[in-house]
Amino acid sequence: MPTILGIESTCDETAASVVIDGRDVRSNVVATQVDLHAKYRGVVPEIASRAHIENILPVLREALDQAACGFADIDAIAVAHRPGLIGSLLIGVTAAKTLAWSLGKPLIGIDHVHAHLYSVVLGEMQNDERRMQNDGRMADPHSAFCIDQSAFAGFPAVGLVCSGGHTALYRVGSWTDVELIGSTIDDAVGEAYDKVAAILGLGYPGGPIIDTLAASGDPTVVKLPRTYLDRESLDFSFSGLKTAVLYHVRGVPNRRDPQANAKPPPTEAEIRNIAAAFQAACIDVISEKLHRAIARTGAKSVIIGGGVSANRGLRAALATFPLPTFFPPMQYCTDNAAMSAGLAHLYLTAHQTSPLDLDAIPYSQFISG
Ligand code: KG4
Ligand code: ZN
Repeated sequence: MPTILGIESTCDETAASVVIDGRDVRSNVVATQVDLHAKYRGVVPEIASRAHIENILPVLREALDQAACGFADIDAIAVAHRPGLIGSLLIGVTAAKTLAWSLGKPLIGIDHVHAHLYSVVLGEMQNDERRMQNDGRMADPHSAFCIDQSAFAGFPAVGLVCSGGHTALYRVGSWTDVELIGSTIDDAVGEAYDKVAAILGLGYPGGPIIDTLAASGDPTVVKLPRTYLDRESLDFSFSGLKTAVLYHVRGVPNRRDPQANAKPPPTEAEIRNIAAAFQAACIDVISEKLHRAIARTGAKSVIIGGGVSANRGLRAALATFPLPTFFPPMQYCTDNAAMSAGLAHLYLTAHQTSPLDLDAIPYSQFISG
């Protein structure tokens, strides 16, 4: 029963988690920095790095306490070492290397984007399930909870990671075999949510706020574009949609007379309709790209992770998707360390550990193929 301590510091959440056997989450501690970045309506890298330094030790201690274990019970240290903000990554990577070296435990570097896909298998196992696993009986292979790569009936899958920093499609051959097949050419979808929220004068992060407002808005009142790129393209583009919202709200800029097209601020009802129209446009594009990716890869299931996978409109729209579609439990959609600790289980059991000179790397390991 390998017990892995995971560490996450790729962006603006300092997190640590203890996960047993790749999916049984015993603790999931996340220190969010949202309040520090809210007034800038986005993450300020220097502020993020400093906050990680302050948070990392208390978060690690809390994760061990909540899991009721000590360092002696930990079999390996996992850390999200890529992609992310370099100053932020360095704090988690340094903490992980220090622990691995001083405790004499294996170190496992994890790609954060890859871990977002794996988050669909996480859960807090009930006693019955623990008993089943101890008896050697596997979880249902049709469920994403089955981490047995040879038994899981959903591979190959199409993976979609949609977050504040990434919007990318993958062919997922197994939990450890992930190939990039499409990505955004400009903004990530979560970034577009955050920017549209800023245009509408809403708070940060904008995703959950727009999601809530969209539920009571009419998506047909405001007409917004959908960018599909070439007929075959699996890439995304959200900057045109964001600019369309900007022009709709503020008016198309007129360089000669800046006041010529200026509009009054939108009413509450208009904001709800804009939020609904924006969300509908994002969901249409995501659905179309998933269909294309399924046709391209012959996928048997769809796996969705990242902050935007918490979106209720997206979950509702994909509920009727033609293939089994797996979303993470809500608490594992946004950044957390449980997803890295869980995925590390598969590397540990395959004896694929990292050297102690593991680097913090700002970009992902998955290269377009
Ligand atoms: O995965 P995450 O925590 O960090 C990155 O790796 O980027 O994702 C954060 C992003 C933010 O842009 C936030 O606005 C968005 O996820 N988000 C949502 C929702 N909850 C969080 N977007 C749409 N609907 C939501 N319910
Ligand atoms: Zn993330």
